[in-house]
Formats: sequence, C-alpha cells, structure tokens
Amino acid sequence: MNTPADPAASPAADPASDLAADAQHRRSPCIHPSILNADFANLAREISRISTADAVHVDVMDNHFVPNLTLGLPVVESIRKTTDLPLDIHLMIEDPDIWAPQYAELGCESVTFHAEAAKAPVRLARELHAQQAQAAMALKPATGIEPYLDMLGELDMLLMMTVEPGFGGQAFLDLVLPKIRRARRAVDDLGGEIAIQVDGGINAETILRAADAGADTFVAGSAVYSAEDPDAAIADLRALLAR
Ligand code: DX5
Ligand code: ZN
Repeated sequence: MNTPADPAASPAADPASDLAADAQHRRSPCIHPSILNADFANLAREISRISTADAVHVDVMDNHFVPNLTLGLPVVESIRKTTDLPLDIHLMIEDPDIWAPQYAELGCESVTFHAEAAKAPVRLARELHAQQAQAAMALKPATGIEPYLDMLGELDMLLMMTVEPGFGGQAFLDLVLPKIRRARRAVDDLGGEIAIQVDGGINAETILRAADAGADTFVAGSAVYSAEDPDAAIADLRALLAR
C-alpha cells in the first residue's frame, strides 16, 4: 500500500514518461470520514458504521483557535478503546506544541496540528515521530504553503483545509485548488510519499476536483454521516476516485 514507485523503472528525460512516473508516485486514495457530524452520544456505534474507512478523522476544537468546541483527550482515549481503525486527529486548538504529543501518547496513528497555531512546527513534528505517531500539518484556506516548503520533509501528511475550520457542512472552497496543485508539485519533488489531505465540503460533487488538483486523502463529514448507510457513502466516493 502506497509504496513509492521504483525510479529505475521509469525512463528519464521524456515528459510523457515523467507524467506517468508522477502518477506512479501517487499514493492510493484514502477516505477518512469525520465524526464531527456523528451522534456524539453514541460514538462507538457511529464509528462501527464506517468500518470500511481508511481512518477515523477526529476534529478536536477548543473554542479559541476556532469558534467551536468539540472533544478532547478523555473522549479520544475512549474512542481509542472502541476501534482498531487508525485515528487521524485534527487539532483545531491553540498550543498544539503542548497538546499534540499527548494524543500521540494515547496511541493515535496520526496527529495534525495547524501551522497557524504551532510555535515550533519542526520540533513538534519530531516529537510526534518520537512518540511513533505520524506528523501532519494543516493550513487554513488563506495560509500559503510557500513558507513551509523547506520543512515538508518533516511531515507525513499536509492537510489543506478546503473550508474555514470550525464547522461541518460548509461549501468547498475552489480557491484552494491552485495551492493543492503547488503542494502536489512540492510533494512529488520529494518523492511523493507525503499524503495530501483535503478537509471541508468534500462530497460526490467536489471530490474529483480535489483529486485532480493532487489530493490523495479525503476527509468527508456530512457526506458520509448524512447518508443512511455511511459505509455505502464511502464506497460511492471510492468508486468516483477509481474512474
Ligand atoms: C471542519 C472539520 C472537518 C469537518 C468536515 O473544520 O475540520 O473535518 O468535519 O465536514 P464536512 O465534510 O461536512 O465539510
Ligand atoms: Zn477536520
């Protein structure tokens, strides 16, 4: 899964082959449903309805970094005990330098902090790796990627927010697409192993625009949990990506 292509297998100096080589570097698409729109009084049952997901996306909000409040360490600790699916923690909080490593300590496979909130993103990414978690960094729609290009190699995943963070059910922002394309080029230059995640307004109508721009990991909240059968909604999104 998501193994990088063998560079020796691709002939060099042919633009058409270069394109094919880029495609080979792409990771297989992953669907990470967000439980933000699930029934918080029945999280174990709600997570059992997304058994085919690649990971569970958990939105942690502190009413400071974003104007909304969700859940924190104690609830994530309980979620950890209720599922074997990987946990993809999206921290929309101030002071991630202090809090993010504690989610890694709970055994969360991936922890995402926001670039706008982290005081020392390189040190934080290294701390997460030291705790055996994947390190990911998120950018709000208006935050440029350019100041962070030199530290991309410290990350396992880059999250490009396609709505302003804080709430589910918002409309996908097409203005982020050029930034996703720039991120894809930068990631491919590094060998293509860093995941590019999009979060916000991802549904059957928008997912291909994000994929065409270069995203490979798709968070979907309302598109999955507003469906009668969330696993079927995941299958529908996968089918679109397979076309
Ligand atoms: C929003 C959260 C998202 C949210 C996505 O700030 O980070 O993960 O759940 O919800 P939808 O898919 O409904 O936009
Ligand atoms: Zn999220």
